[in-house]
Amino acid sequence: MSFPIQRLRRLRMHSTLRKMVQESHVTAADLIMPLFVRPGEGERRPIVSMPGMFQLSVDELVKEVNELEQTGVMAIILFGIPEHKDPAGSEGYAEDGVIQRALRALREKSRDTVLITDVCLCEYTDHGHCGLVEQEGDKFEVANDPTLELLARMAVSHVQAGADMVAPSDMMDGRIGAVREALDAEGFDHTPIMAYSAKYESGFYGPFRDAAESPPQFGDRSTYQMPHPNSDEAMREIALDIDEGADIVMVKPALAYLDIIRRAKQEFNVPLACFSVSGEYAMVKAAVEKGWLDERRIVEETLTAFKRAGADLILTYWAGQFLRWNS
Ligand code: PBG
Ligand code: ZN
Repeated sequence: MSFPIQRLRRLRMHSTLRKMVQESHVTAADLIMPLFVRPGEGERRPIVSMPGMFQLSVDELVKEVNELEQTGVMAIILFGIPEHKDPAGSEGYAEDGVIQRALRALREKSRDTVLITDVCLCEYTDHGHCGLVEQEGDKFEVANDPTLELLARMAVSHVQAGADMVAPSDMMDGRIGAVREALDAEGFDHTPIMAYSAKYESGFYGPFRDAAESPPQFGDRSTYQMPHPNSDEAMREIALDIDEGADIVMVKPALAYLDIIRRAKQEFNVPLACFSVSGEYAMVKAAVEKGWLDERRIVEETLTAFKRAGADLILTYWAGQFLRWNS
């Protein structure tokens, strides 16, 4: 007569057998690497709050993507830091905007790497909000419907420049439908949309806003991003995006929202991504610098947790590093 604990341990004794019964795995096909593009040439500016990450000029970006391809990275998502910001974020949908130039440069060489772009105004607006701002005295509102048109323009211009997939991250209502309609009208009916569907208003975006130089200049994003205590609401957001035509839906951030990932995977039958955001990266990096955590172990454990929770895809700043460690 044996106790259950012994029965379970039996499969842990042999390291190969242990691997063979492992339930969740992280592979190259799961990972999407975020990259920041900036104007200029030969620029590789370290992002202070995200050690190991850089704002790259287009030429440096091309080098970086070539190297990432060597390590097995299959998809990247681009964020742009424009030359000039204005209230309407016009460089975001300009033909010679930084993302559009980056895409054309990357497209010069034929590549299998999936080129994804983040579609949002906040990196391009001088006020730093994700949509057009209407101000009255010291009150302001992010105008939903007028923003949709600009997001749709941005998405179309990204695809025209060579994006394989667009990822709206603004959290305006109706944006997935608006982007879908605009893409279809331009003949891009085969281009998929990855929707940042359950995007929470989160303290974990802090380092990203340094990286993209995009903090809101007044107010916060609580009128459009989701309140972190809510889970049912996330399911409603995801349902709406699927209805409007999202091909992949996303939960963001990831680490503090594993329950949302699990629930979304159970309730919906579509590919599910999660975004392990800048703050998740920064806090581990900081502890590693202090010698308090073993980076490789932490990253492996965390990425596997996203898969265990139900994510099909993981956006992570460790994508390249993880594959280098495991090559
Ligand atoms: C733009 C956008 C943000 C992130 C992805 N797209 C910032 C924000 O909403 O403030 C965050 C990514 C990260 O923190 O790693 N809307
Ligand atoms: Zn935004």
